Amino acid sequence: MNPLNHVAIIMDGNGRWGLKNKNSRNAGHKAGLNTVEKIIKVSLKKKIKYLTLYAFSTENWKRPKKEVNYLFSLLENFLINRIDELHKQNIKLKIIGVKNFSVKLNNLLNKSEKKTSKNRKLQINLALNYGSKSELINAFKNLKKKNEKINEKNLAKYLQTKNIPDPDILIRTGNTQRLSNFLLWQIAYAEIFFEKKLWPEFNEKDYNKIIKKFKNIKRNFGKI
Ligand code: IPE
Ligand code: IPE
Ligand code: MG
Repeated sequence: MNPLNHVAIIMDGNGRWGLKNKNSRNAGHKAGLNTVEKIIKVSLKKKIKYLTLYAFSTENWKRPKKEVNYLFSLLENFLINRIDELHKQNIKLKIIGVKNFSVKLNNLLNKSEKKTSKNRKLQINLALNYGSKSELINAFKNLKKKNEKINEKNLAKYLQTKNIPDPDILIRTGNTQRLSNFLLWQIAYAEIFFEKKLWPEFNEKDYNKIIKKFKNIKRNFGKI
């Protein structure tokens, strides 16, 4: 049975779910938060150490302002209302991506990270304004600046995921089979699961099924 340390998820399909069910993309984003809560619960139960959630890509700024603002207001409320509970559950929150939001949101993110920084049960990496290509370019720039040898170990030091083991599983919901600039380096050997369901429809059972399937996959890492 494969050990499972790290699950990464591209939480896609909120907009379509919202339009279909509530005639509003934003209602889909709100519904998606319930799935986040469910997935955190199962991850704790399964003793998964790292859960990386793609919440906002560097490309998502191209969306209408109303939707972008709504997404960040949801995040703000989530942190204000839930961070104490996450902290109590021994969950550490880490933001991956570039924190260049409003002063208020930046402060809230920093405060939430600081508050939970010593927690050990589960680390949630929230990918916000995250893009894998810019992450890699930034890492190469750092190597050059410090005149360090270009190798895998040195490069990984300058990634946002420094000190985090690579994902074992990558899940993308929403019936689309692409990576959308997510963790391109880190998922070199991840087992990838593309899910037809939209994110707000995805549930504990679906997640458990993937975990079970993963456990029995023969992972080769190039060997036989
Ligand atoms: C959520 O899904 C992902 C975010 C960028 C927050 P989408 O908003 O991309 O939903 P669809 O793909 O348009 O249905
Ligand atoms: C990927 O979903 C980003 C997040 C889930 C945050 P998108 O909906 O932005 O991806 P594309 O644009 O369809 O590839
Ligand atoms: Mg989408």
